[in-house]
Amino acid sequence: MHFPGPPRRCDEAISNRLGLLRREEHPPRNDSSQSEEPMTEELLYYTDYLELDKILGSQHPKSNEQTDEMLFIIIHQAYELWFKMVIHELDQVRRIFDTDNVQDNTGDMSIAVHKLKRVVKIFEVVNRQVDILESMTPMDFLEFRDLLVPSSGFQSLQFRIIEAKLGLKMEQRYKANYYKNTRPGGFNQQDFQTINQIESEATLKSLVIKWAERTPFFDESLWRDFQTKYPQEADEQKFWSDYKQIYKNSLSGSVEMRQFDELERIFYKEGLGEFSVGSMRAVLFIMMYRNLPIFHTPFDLLNTLIDIDEMLSQFRYKHMLMARRMIGMRSGTGGTSGAGYLEGALRQHYIFKELTEVSTFLVERSHLPGLPSAVKEKTSFNA
Ligand code: HEM
Repeated sequence: MHFPGPPRRCDEAISNRLGLLRREEHPPRNDSSQSEEPMTEELLYYTDYLELDKILGSQHPKSNEQTDEMLFIIIHQAYELWFKMVIHELDQVRRIFDTDNVQDNTGDMSIAVHKLKRVVKIFEVVNRQVDILESMTPMDFLEFRDLLVPSSGFQSLQFRIIEAKLGLKMEQRYKANYYKNTRPGGFNQQDFQTINQIESEATLKSLVIKWAERTPFFDESLWRDFQTKYPQEADEQKFWSDYKQIYKNSLSGSVEMRQFDELERIFYKEGLGEFSVGSMRAVLFIMMYRNLPIFHTPFDLLNTLIDIDEMLSQFRYKHMLMARRMIGMRSGTGGTSGAGYLEGALRQHYIFKELTEVSTFLVERSHLPGLPSAVKEKTSFNA
């Protein structure tokens, strides 16, 4: 592909770079020389712009041309490029949420959701790349596997950054001790510190919790006209006092009744995981009343976070199956138990598990209490 003549539409980055190149090629000259020399402009060139010399010059198999190591390297590099893009988007979204006042009905919120949906799409694509790698057979892999020891995908700093920025903490990881030592196969000291540093910053999860806690819908003044259907519990907000009974009535049998204790614990006393009582209530309320216009985007946000968790699980699942197929029950090149470790991480490394647990506490739409007009007004775009 080449660009014939000057591009018709330049975005800002391209035109900045064009300007830079032109300046480099044509340093300022005095007037007399300008009139004599013909103007030859150096136009931006595809290969230079994308710095393909660096990217395409970065495949150096440790074995020989006959093995599948080139495929192995390129697949990993393609993953890492997409991981870079994911981190870029997560940073933008964290920036949007890192304020005391994310307006649900302004563009910021929908930009955040749009970017998170892009992350989902990226994972859909990268998860399919495993299919290409699986065209390599276990014996093909053995041709060069030993040359890779002790390096491993375990050391993918960008993958760990994605997990950490989303909200996975060191102590929540399966076999947390694998992460802490910096022996061969583990992280080098610098990467280990980088991951710890990122974990100490505001994660997307912590920012979303704060955002949920700020929802103004349970201000007592909005609920004055709310007619409770059941006797109101002392010191309980009217809606939540009623909801407890509505939920209880929706359960049947002693097994399901246990969920009622969980409702008490999660939405009235303790919260769940990192989610406080207030943020859990907000999430449940948004999920129940998602048809109200102002909840469309918040609901989309929560749903997309669940999608991201699902995509990461799919990555872990497909990767675990692929690893088992390639190396059976051998340990990994990074020194973990291999498939056993990967299965543990798959089971344990959910980031937004609290959000999916909310489904346990929903009731049929027809049983939802009608909202007082003050709340409806607050939840309309005209508020
Ligand atoms: C022949 C192909 C592959 C095999 C057999 C394999 C095997 C493994 C094993 C056994 C582990 C556990 C750590 C260890 O002891 O080494 C691991 C971790 C990992 N690998 Fe791979 N892998 C392969 C390809 C890939 C590819 C293409 C990627 C893409 C980036 C990748 C990314 C990762 C990541 C991110 C981890 C850490 C997973 C976690 O902790 O949840 N691997 N791999």
